[in-house]
Order: sequence, then structure tokens, then C-alpha cells
Amino acid sequence: MKDIGKPGKVQRMKRKGLGGIVCACLLALSCWGCAGDEKNQAEELRVGVLLYNQDDLFIGALKQEIDGCFRETEKREGCRITVSYFDSMGNQITQNEQIDTFIEQGYDVLCVNLVVRTDAAAIVDKGKKADVPLVFFNREPVSADLERWEKIYYVGTDAEEGGRKQGEIFLDYCRARKSADKNGDGVIQYVLLEGEPGHQDSAIRTESCIKSIEEGGVELERLAVANANWRRSQGKEKMAGWLDEFGSGIEAVISNNDAMALGALDALAESDLAELSPVVIGLDGIEEARAAVRDGRMAGTVVNDARGQAEAIVALATELGKDEIPDIPDMKDRIIRVPHKTVTQ
Ligand code: BGC
Repeated sequence: MKDIGKPGKVQRMKRKGLGGIVCACLLALSCWGCAGDEKNQAEELRVGVLLYNQDDLFIGALKQEIDGCFRETEKREGCRITVSYFDSMGNQITQNEQIDTFIEQGYDVLCVNLVVRTDAAAIVDKGKKADVPLVFFNREPVSADLERWEKIYYVGTDAEEGGRKQGEIFLDYCRARKSADKNGDGVIQYVLLEGEPGHQDSAIRTESCIKSIEEGGVELERLAVANANWRRSQGKEKMAGWLDEFGSGIEAVISNNDAMALGALDALAESDLAELSPVVIGLDGIEEARAAVRDGRMAGTVVNDARGQAEAIVALATELGKDEIPDIPDMKDRIIRVPHKTVTQ
């Protein structure tokens, strides 16, 4: 993570918050893509990225992709892009202060992974006041906040689609293997690991996953549900408790993400029911989950396309940095939803 320090002496593409006249002069001198000798000295874009918590496995993977895409853009466009990161460590107040720091230091565009998705208003107002465009990602602001200003964008996925694809994997798996119904009662008894309450990807994924399984004709019985807040450790802890309570009665584990599904597998491996092999479904497509799909410990996962989301975030930030109105395919109402893909054996 880059220490954001004080702004350097390199002439920037834009210096927001320095006052209209200075800003206008710099803009005139340093428009992106100008030819000739102005080019090398003038083109620098400074992007601040704020992560709700870098320990989150998916967010860690997304950060790597964002970094890679900025580097590729730099090479492709022959420009200089400084990208600095802040980890808000699960604290919205800290994130708001980090936003102030980036704005004070003259960053051109901010990419924000909110801590509390319903708390975007204060950040939007800060961006608007300083005229620093905002690209929210992964944790979706409510539409009233997205409508507060026209220089706000969101990159994420369609949670309903993600859950539906999980349901499709589950159905295919159960149809192909009658043995999934271990006690032969015609019903699959399952436990459910949910992400953070209030996160758009928790309740919506759950609902559409369960709906598509039931509509596909597999009968389900929910033994237990708990929020494990996207965390592997919490998924493990919940699953350990359920193994004590329900033992071999657990025929399936449905998880809103891969990290919690991997936690459930950890608990299973440490239990005396290691041979139980319930149907385990996750979502994200992180490398360790793909390996678990390959070796049969998971029935499948759905790819929450970190690369695709990173490309969209970087394209938006770069165009906003040029003071252009972004024109990105498949963007609707300043929202880009990157499609999911399915991973099975
Ligand atoms: C991912 C989770 C991640 C969460 C963080 C979700 O879209 O599926 O793995 O923990 O975003 O906000």
C-alpha cells in the first residue's frame, strides 16, 4: 500500500480544491493526451482508492486487479497514474476522514468501497463540494445517494443473478447425484451462511438462490441460518456449532461467498464427520474455492468477476480524470453491473 504522504512537485492533471482559477489553468495545460512536450510533464492522474477492509479475501483479490489495470492503462495511454490506497478497517468514520485527506491532498478521482453502504451521503457531499468524482464499488450506495450528484458512479454485480447461478449449480449437482439426499427423505436439509446484514449481496443472493432451487423442483429444508459476515473464521465457527447440533443431518451448505464456504470446509475437516461431504456452494470464484471445486470438496462457485469489475472501475476513474463524461458499454444510470460466471468441475 502506498504511503500517501504529501503531494509531490510533479505537475498534476488537475488539482482539485486549489481554487477555480488555478484549477482551470492546470486543466488547460494538462488535458489528457495533449501532444508534444507538454505531454510528459503534464500528465499525471492521482487516484485514491478506499477499501472497507483489505483482509476481506475478495476485496484483496479485487485490489490486485485494480492495481494491475491501472498499470496497464498507464502503459497503453503513455501517462502517469499514481494510485494510493487506504484501508478503512471496517470503520465508516475512519473512511470519511480518509476521504478528507485525499481531497486535501488534491487527488483527482476517488474510488470508494464503502464500509456501511447506506452511509454514502456525507462522502458524496464532500466529493461534490471539492468537485472530485466518486466511483463507488462492491458495496452499493442506495439510489437516493447515487442521485445526489452526477459525478457519482457504481461498479458491482447483479446480486440476483449471482444467487440464481448458485441455485443452478445446486440443481445440476443434485439431479446428477441422487446420493446428495443422504437420508433419502426426498428433501435436502441445508444450513445457510449469510454475509453481512444490510449488504446488498447477502439477502438478495440468498433469496434468489433458494428460489431457483425450489422452482427447479428440489425440495429444501433449512436447518439453520447465520450471518458470518463474509469471514472464513466466522463461517468455520458457525459450521462447527451446526455440526455439533445436527451432525450428519446436514446435507448441504449454501454460502453467500467462498470465504465462508471455505470456513465451513475447515470445520468439517476438523470434525469427526470429515467424510460427510455435503453439497457446498460458494460465490466469488477465488482461487482456493476453485481448487476445492476441482478436488470435489465444493460442488461449485460463481465467479464474482474481480477482473471485470477492476476494468470498469479503472476505465471510469481514467475517463473522469480526463474530465470526460464516461462512455462505457453496458453502463446504465451511471451503474455498471459486471456479469457472473459459473465454475463447476
Ligand atoms: C463478495 C464477498 C465480499 C463482499 C465485501 C461481496 O460481493 O462476494 O466475498 O466479502 O462483497 O463487500
